[in-house]
Formats: sequence, C-alpha cells, structure tokens
Amino acid sequence: MSKLSRIAVIGLGYVGLPLSVALAEHHSVIGFAIDAERIDQLRRGHDRTDEISPERLGGAGIEWSSESGAMRGAEYFIVTVPTPVDDQNIPDLSAILAASRTVGAELQPGAIVIYESTVWPGLTEEECAPELERASGLKCGQDFHLGYSPERINPGDKEHTLRTIIKIVAGDTPEIAARIAALYGAINGGNIYVAPDIRTAEAAKVIENAQRDINIAFVNEVAQICHKLGLSSAEVLQAAGTKWNFLNFTPGLVGGHCIGVDPYYLAHRAEQAGHRPEVILAGRQINDSMGEFVASHIAEQMPASGGRVLVLGLTFKKNVPDLRNSLVADIVRLLKAAGHIVDVHDPLADTAIAKTLYGINLLPDIAGPERYDCVAGAVAHDSYSDMTAEQIAGLLREDGLLADIAGMWRTLELPARLRRWQL
Ligand SMILES: NC(=O)c1ccc[n+]([C@@H]2O[C@H](COP(=O)([O-])OP(=O)(O)OC[C@H]3O[C@@H](n4cnc5c(N)ncnc54)[C@H](O)[C@@H]3O)[C@@H](O)[C@H]2O)c1
Repeated sequence: MSKLSRIAVIGLGYVGLPLSVALAEHHSVIGFAIDAERIDQLRRGHDRTDEISPERLGGAGIEWSSESGAMRGAEYFIVTVPTPVDDQNIPDLSAILAASRTVGAELQPGAIVIYESTVWPGLTEEECAPELERASGLKCGQDFHLGYSPERINPGDKEHTLRTIIKIVAGDTPEIAARIAALYGAINGGNIYVAPDIRTAEAAKVIENAQRDINIAFVNEVAQICHKLGLSSAEVLQAAGTKWNFLNFTPGLVGGHCIGVDPYYLAHRAEQAGHRPEVILAGRQINDSMGEFVASHIAEQMPASGGRVLVLGLTFKKNVPDLRNSLVADIVRLLKAAGHIVDVHDPLADTAIAKTLYGINLLPDIAGPERYDCVAGAVAHDSYSDMTAEQIAGLLREDGLLADIAGMWRTLELPARLRRWQL
C-alpha cells in the first residue's frame, strides 16, 4: 500500500468522523456525507458529536464534501452510514443501499469498498455488492473488491478507542484482507484480527452486541423479580458477583442505535433462514419494556396525578450527546400520560433535537426555585453523578422521592425525610 492512498469515508457520524481523522494521519482522506450542514460544521472545525476537538479537526487536513464526485479516483471507500430499524423493528437498509449506489457511481477499477456499518451476515456481499455493480458497471471480485471491518468504538469512552481496540477485518480474497489489515493496522498499532471471510466478520459484530443486550436483559429481569419480592436487586447482584464466574452486569435502560438495534438485524436474518431466535427476541422485549417498568414504579410512589418530576438526563447513555432511541423519553411520556408535570434536563443534549425527536423542551438549568415530588436520575452524566446529597435534597419536597434509575447515587447518604427507589 502506498504511503499516501486516497481514501473516501462515506458517513461522518460517531464512526466515520474519528476514523477519517485517524486515517488522515497517514493518507489523503475525503470525508463525504449527504448532510450538507454537517459538512459545513466540520469545515468550520465543529463536531456536534463531541468526539473530535476543534484543534484536531482543523489540523486533520481532510477534504470534506457533500458532493459525491469529490470521491472519484479513491482507492479505498469506507462506508459508515446508519443501519437502523423501522418502527416495526425491521432492518431499514435505505441508507446503506443508497450509499452503495453513490459509491458505485464513483467507483473505478482496482478500488476496494469496505463496509463498517453493522449488518447481518451476508448483507455486504448479497445486498451491497449488487448495488455497487449496478451503479458502476464493474464486476465485484474482478474489477473491484469488497471488505468488511466492524466498528467497535464506544462513544464517550476514552479508554476503548479506535487506537486501542482490536479491529476485525475481512476481505473477499486473502490478499484484499491483508491490504485492509495493513490499512487499519497503521492506525491502531497492528491490533488486527483477520476473519476468514466477510460473513464471519459481519456475524461477529452482531453477536457481540446481541450478547450484551441479552446479558443486560437478564439483570433487568432479575431487577423486575427482585422488586416483586421486596429485594434490592443491587444487593442481590453484589452478593452473586462474588462468585468467580458470575457475569457482572447492571440493570438499566438500553437505548441508542447499536445494542438495541443490532439484535434485530441478526434476528431478521435468522428468521429468513428458518430459525426463530427466541432468546435474542426475549432479551429485546425485556429491555424495550424497561421504560414502562421504571415509569410505573415511580408513578406508584407519587401523588395520583399532578405530581412534579425532574428527570435528569435524556441521552441514550452517559457523557454523550446522542439522543437517538432514548428510553428516558418513554419514561417522560408515561409519567406525563399519568397526569404528572415532568421537567427534563440534560447538559449534553441538543435542545432542538430533543424537541424534534420527543417534543421535549429541555430545562436550561436545574437551579430554579422549583421543588419536586420526584427527582429521577436517568443518565449518569458526570455532572449528575458528582452531585452531593445536599444538592439533590435541595431539589426535593419534604418527603420527596429520589429515583436512582442509573444507579449513580447508591452510596450517597440522603436526609431521612427523603424516600429512595433504585433500579
Ligand atoms: N455509534 C456507535 O457507537 C457505533 C459503534 C459501532 C458500530 N456502529 C455502526 O456504524 C454505523 C454508523 O453509525 P454512526 O453512529 O456513526 O451513525 P451516525 O448517524 O452518527 O452517522 C451517520 C453518517 O452517515 C451519513 N449518511 C447517512 N446516509 C448517507 C448516505 N446515503 N450517503 C452518505 N452518507 C450518509 C450521515 O450524514 C452521517 O454523517 C451504523 O451501522 C452503526 O450501527 C455505530
């Protein structure tokens, strides 16, 4: 591989942007996305996902574009566009197929197209390659080649980053896999696992996230059982966790667009192949119902209606601004439907996106004179987990309820006048 390959990255979100910046240290990178506003922001050095600082962005030397023609002549195309599900939880391939057509139109002989989007086993070769062939008039495996490298980054996590995690790569021939391994190896110190083929690499990624979903679903079900039995799930899990082979997961809200979505891709393909994935779908069902479980437990401990609730955190996980598929929004909706007045605060979420996605007007701050019947800690952003007992007590009425959904205040000693509920 030449020192300065020309690489086009398609999709500049949580996955594509950090990848572009890392690759640009070694290669000439063109970052392409259909979202012209995002391109404009990146040109001005602003990353709304908060993953890359303005200094790194400004110094990266990347050509940003929403014009697909800018990618012409690239030797590598890396596709990192969303792979969501629709409102029936059916995989929505529209972005990945559209991106394949866009790439196909710019593809030249000798290029390698690598997919990083999470897909089911077989999707790259069976659905994306034909789109590339149709749009380019070229033959896959002959005129151009195919690769797959699942992304494992964890936004907001400063330890497990593109540079520190093992990257799985696969190609449509061993030679192509070796070239892809060299490309990624240069940005993560050679921390590469070469999978035997593209389908294996695709399957590895979806089962990683399906496994995590199921493990969390198990402890969420344990939490539901413990509440029925009058036990503290935190204490039960802590005791069980002293066994050498007990898996330590904590109950919580599984939102976002990876763990809560990827199992549906695997389930969809399994069903096409004639297998009903009972465990995977049961896990999804339990995790998807957790907003309802939490809302009903909070409502039970509130006045019948007209209570005031302050929900802290709306993003799908701590310390990220990503609002997609937030189960906290379910909690807010259900508490409002039960007749309560619900204020929501999140220091990282974009107010306009919160309004568009969920119709929620975020509070600008929580220092107002209001005293609440319930403070619900939904997302463990650092600014919330650092709150003192005095600060929390100052937000609550005389016998107010602290609902520690995210389990971030377990060790805080609260004044005896206050009630406490935790997941
Ligand atoms: N976010 C994560 O933590 C994470 C981790 C591992 C894997 N993944 C997977 O990576 C993929 C991308 O996720 P993300 O979080 O980066 O998504 P994202 O929504 O943050 O970014 C997607 C980008 O793709 C662009 N885009 C959408 N349709 C396009 C098209 N047709 N052509 C060109 N660009 C298009 C958007 O403008 C945006 O820049 C998904 O398959 C996801 O499951 C995400």
